[in-house]
Amino acid sequence: MSTINDSVIIEVKELEKHFKEVKAVDGVSLKIKRGELFSILGPNGAGKTTLVRMLTTILTPTSGDAIIKGNSILSGKKEIVKLIGVCPQEITIYEVLRAEENVEFVASMHGIPRKEAKEKAKELLKEFGIAGRKDWSKHFSGGMQRRLNLVMALVFDPDILFLDEPTAGLDPQARRLVWDFIRDLKNKDITIILMTHDMIEADSLSDRVAIIDHGKIIAQGTPTELKEKYGSDNVLEISFLEQEDLEVVKTNIQNIPFVVNSSEIHRKERQTLLISFKGGLKNLVKLLQQGLIDNIDEVENMKFRQNSLEDVFLNLTGRRMRD
Ligand SMILES: Nc1ncnc2c1ncn2[C@@H]1O[C@H](COP(=O)(O)OP(=O)(O)OP(=O)(O)O)[C@@H](O)[C@H]1O
Ligand SMILES: [Mg+2]
Repeated sequence: MSTINDSVIIEVKELEKHFKEVKAVDGVSLKIKRGELFSILGPNGAGKTTLVRMLTTILTPTSGDAIIKGNSILSGKKEIVKLIGVCPQEITIYEVLRAEENVEFVASMHGIPRKEAKEKAKELLKEFGIAGRKDWSKHFSGGMQRRLNLVMALVFDPDILFLDEPTAGLDPQARRLVWDFIRDLKNKDITIILMTHDMIEADSLSDRVAIIDHGKIIAQGTPTELKEKYGSDNVLEISFLEQEDLEVVKTNIQNIPFVVNSSEIHRKERQTLLISFKGGLKNLVKLLQQGLIDNIDEVENMKFRQNSLEDVFLNLTGRRMRD
């Protein structure tokens, strides 16, 4: 596993970018630690790409600064470019070059000797499942082009990798493949900044998440922290086989500290308990062990709805992320 340590590798300070009256990025401050996968999650137009373009020195900020491994984005562009790999939102490949040629081209721009570049390209393309394709990259599927773009961003062993919506427009299978590659990258000593509007992606891949809306960071923390602080509660719905006296079960459950409330409903001769509780899957197991173990034989059915970052965004903004 890569080790996340407390040394801050990127510090963003009051960064702003205005396009006429639009404040695309509106005073963003962040500290990203070495080795972590930090996601910036927000809806369309929230300012994610504008933020990446400033951090990767493509776009000059209106005000503020960011320090990347000791270099300011305002004055240290040359040094920063050597440290970062970028996988932009729009696939950026040379369509009339083959996969290896694309990768070798990027490597040569970073001053990697030809022989070494060829070996590295071969190794990475194999790892990413695109070795053996000898045709022009314009004929590749979207998922393959994305993976090629990832390889191009990784060929010179960057310290920091920026991924802007790496799975946008991919089918579920290709999306999973890209997620697996990102998970594998976490085992290497690399800091990853991932821009996404995909809640599942942010939840399952990130060490920490910052939620961005209208150019501002409105919350940040680990996915679990965010769900505990701003999410709704988990709900477990249990229906019982027979008309049981549920008083004992209800008392047991009410005495568990993380249970928010429980209520009983009757449906077609069945008794059903709806239990809202805080925390994640661990608490579900505890709930079953502490509250229900004595009555488990009478349980006919259970449904569990776990809270998600979708709830977090909804509770913070009153809107769904995809509205
Ligand atoms: N070059 C530009 N000129 C004018 N306005 C721009 C420019 N680039 C971005 N914007 C505006 O800035 C805001 C933020 O855009 P940005 O592309 O950073 O959002 P995003 O979070 O990446 O969205 P998406 O999820 O759609 O990629 C939007 O209102 C957008 O229209
Ligand atoms: Mg974008």
